[in-house]
Amino acid sequence: MKTIAVFGATGAQGGGLVRAILADPQGGFAARAITRDVNSEKARELARLGAEVVAADIDDEASLLQALRGAYGAYFVTFFWAHMSPEKEQAEALAMARAAKAAGLKHVIWSTLEDSRRFIPLSDDRMPTLMGKYKVPHFDAKGEADRYFRDQGVPTTFLLTSFYWDNLIYFGMGPKRDAAGKLAFTLPMGDRKLPGIAAEDIGRCAYGILKKGTSEIGKSIGIAGGHLTGAEMAAALTKALGQPVYHNAVTPAVYRSFGFPGADDLGNMFQFNHDFADDFCRVRDLGVSRALNPALQTFSAWLEKNKSRIPLE
Ligand SMILES: NC(=O)c1ccc[n+]([C@@H]2O[C@H](COP(=O)([O-])OP(=O)(O)OC[C@H]3O[C@@H](n4cnc5c(N)ncnc54)[C@H](OP(=O)(O)O)[C@@H]3O)[C@@H](O)[C@H]2O)c1
Repeated sequence: MKTIAVFGATGAQGGGLVRAILADPQGGFAARAITRDVNSEKARELARLGAEVVAADIDDEASLLQALRGAYGAYFVTFFWAHMSPEKEQAEALAMARAAKAAGLKHVIWSTLEDSRRFIPLSDDRMPTLMGKYKVPHFDAKGEADRYFRDQGVPTTFLLTSFYWDNLIYFGMGPKRDAAGKLAFTLPMGDRKLPGIAAEDIGRCAYGILKKGTSEIGKSIGIAGGHLTGAEMAAALTKALGQPVYHNAVTPAVYRSFGFPGADDLGNMFQFNHDFADDFCRVRDLGVSRALNPALQTFSAWLEKNKSRIPLE
């Protein structure tokens, strides 16, 4: 059995991978679920499902290395929104790469995103520079950290994830009533397509990569369950919820001005997604994603299962 140490195992990405491994007992892989608290309800549930549950904190390199001992591979993800520090995220990625090297892992998946500064240099004033040296901090930190895995010679597949449709449930991005009482789905994407995915499918695609094996090392693989415009998402919401939802296509500048923590980062992210929509969709090929994960959900299928969980304010 090839043991995969899965970070974020009690969360969205890692949880999907642990469940994918456990759902395929003949697949040749075992799941080691990494958590800071082995006694939490979620950790115990993973143990009940058959995962080995091991404690580690990604901010503690010694614990990282300990958690990787004897493993074949690892799924590495960082948690930007827990601290909103790109420097901390990079330090965590560096520690992951060093620990992976020291543990002699054979296949690592690093959950990453594009460094937007390769597309929009800091000198380009179409969007503000944030925190002194970033355009989209939570993208740039991850993209810049790719090189830690390359520099350490870690056998890595770089997994380019997409916007979670689950953000409509957990991240306050669902439809909201406007002053006239109509449901508005706010997405500053104009008429461009946004690659999105059911968060659970990220781990399933990662499992597909692990099953394909070492041929995937060194590749950057983008995944998505659908490429949809804001209007298409609003139409699907209208159908699923049984009440009209319209696309509120604000500009990224308006989105940045919303003022909640991270609004500027997300406003820049949507602008980056909008301005480079063709590149973004091309690298997140739906056929490639479905080949990795035959259960890949479309937005409509995800909505059918999850519509009752979307808070309508
Ligand atoms: N939302 C989106 O649309 C989207 C799209 C693409 C990429 N992303 C990226 O996804 C990342 C987050 O992944 P996720 O959504 O899977 O996270 P998540 O669901 O919030 O899960 C986080 C889990 O990680 C564990 N964790 C948190 N801090 C930890 C630490 N210091 N050491 C060890 N474990 C820790 C926690 O488990 P315990 O409490 O059990 O330790 C928690 O259950 C972010 O960096 C974000 O930028 C998000």
